[in-house]
Amino acid sequence: MVDYNGTKQTSPDGRSRTVRGRPFVKWAGGKRQLIDILLKNVPPQYNTYIEPLVGAGALLFALAPTRAIISDINPEIINAYLVIRDNVHAVASSLTRHKNTEEYFYKARSKNPNQLSPVQRASRFIYLNRTCFNGLYRENSRGEFNVPFGDYETPKILDKGNLLAVSDYLGSNHISILCQDYKKTALLAKPGDFVYCDPPYYPLNTTSSFTKYSKGDFTEQDQGELSQVFRDLDRKGCYVMLSNSNTPYIRGLYKGYDIEEIEAYRALNCKAERRGKGLYEILVRNYGRGTKG
Ligand SMILES: C[S@@+](CC[C@H](N)C(=O)[O-])C[C@H]1O[C@@H](n2cnc3c(N)ncnc32)[C@H](O)[C@@H]1O
Repeated sequence: MVDYNGTKQTSPDGRSRTVRGRPFVKWAGGKRQLIDILLKNVPPQYNTYIEPLVGAGALLFALAPTRAIISDINPEIINAYLVIRDNVHAVASSLTRHKNTEEYFYKARSKNPNQLSPVQRASRFIYLNRTCFNGLYRENSRGEFNVPFGDYETPKILDKGNLLAVSDYLGSNHISILCQDYKKTALLAKPGDFVYCDPPYYPLNTTSSFTKYSKGDFTEQDQGELSQVFRDLDRKGCYVMLSNSNTPYIRGLYKGYDIEEIEAYRALNCKAERRGKGLYEILVRNYGRGTKG
């Protein structure tokens, strides 16, 4: 098993690696549950690791590459990465001052993040993530965080050891952190780089799936455009891996590439009876076993 504590671990592929830090927020679609499968599918060698829709970065932290480019369209998570890298003690100290009460939560939630300092903004973001219902990040159409209070007895608002490990990892390696559209980030990829794309999933059915991490949604057209970017990166000579839902539409977009069905647990379905294990996800690659498109 891989753990994230910064010690040398032997993973299922038999390679040992130093892992620095782990995701510092819970994130819808976060890949911590699937990390061992993802690691088995990483190309054995590559230049720069690029994750253009990085979210909480489960694979980033598990791989801990020394050279990487990460980006996300969500300004809250990207600000948090930057502040943890550059000002970790200030954000840790600010996190100790939050309170786990309903009144305080809604007061913090109502604040406009654009009017806070970067440290206050990261601190509010992590606090809300730790204390809100299910650790979700979701925005309304005005771009305001709108998840209700979780009412957990003892949420771990400050995980100082992990924040320090993340800060150390981000600060002591060549990691570019960008708040921008994935297409712009994909343009930075060079032959021999490894690009992992983990977009908001195409819905398994029209009512159940969560695709809204920010005020914009990731539409069917976006999925189509992402598959074009995948093909462009393939033609350029990059190693490309992508996760998505196991639906005929998505499988059609990646026809000709290696598509593996993955047994995944669906935790974010709104209907409790639809939660559970199944072949809900696929992993698409342009390298390795299978045919190349
Ligand atoms: C499934 S999540 C990624 C989860 C991540 N792999 C993890 O382990 O936490 C998808 C991410 O794509 C981001 N996203 C959505 N649209 C985007 C866009 N156009 N450009 C860049 N990022 C985008 C979302 O903000 C979200 O963080």
